[in-house]
Amino acid sequence: MKKIIVTKSPEETEKLGWQIGKVLKGGEVIELASDLGGGKTTFTRGFALGAGSDDHVSSPTFTISNIYTAKKLTIHHFDFYRLHEAGLIEHELEDVLGEPDQVVIVEWSDVVAHVLPEDRLAIKIASSSDGERTVTVEYPEKLAYLVEKL
Ligand SMILES: Nc1ncnc2c1ncn2[C@@H]1O[C@H](COP(=O)(O)OP(=O)(O)O)[C@@H](O)[C@H]1O
Ligand SMILES: [Mg+2]
Repeated sequence: MKKIIVTKSPEETEKLGWQIGKVLKGGEVIELASDLGGGKTTFTRGFALGAGSDDHVSSPTFTISNIYTAKKLTIHHFDFYRLHEAGLIEHELEDVLGEPDQVVIVEWSDVVAHVLPEDRLAIKIASSSDGERTVTVEYPEKLAYLVEKL
């Protein structure tokens, strides 16, 4: 299944993340793809807020993973930008994948594509013009509740 949403500002992309973050149940896996500066981290900022976390969201490009705590959930934010292999971090990812109280959101997921479950939300952000992004969300029926209200 597929949904396409156009956002006209970083705030709108953040709001989109917020709407999805708000309806998380736990155990979800979200893959974010775009060029550099596409808005993956911006989306994740709203996503964590929507899930109820006040933790600061930043690009984990150098640390590879950030953890945000919400009331009932822990969000694991990975960014594999420029990595050719995930190395030991792959185990960290595998340990939390699909756990009922853990949520995984991954930027530049190519190097870990083989460990990600098929049931995941795949979000592609394309810059359509300055300040505008076309966000394509692909998902299995099972995860339709995440995008129902968009
Ligand atoms: N519609 C939009 N959605 C998201 N970001 C936007 C949008 N328009 C402009 N921007 C800008 O694009 C940049 C996105 O950066 P970031 O979220 O860090 O991207 P990424 O994590 O994909 O590299 C920010 O500087 C943001 O202000
Ligand atoms: Mg980023």
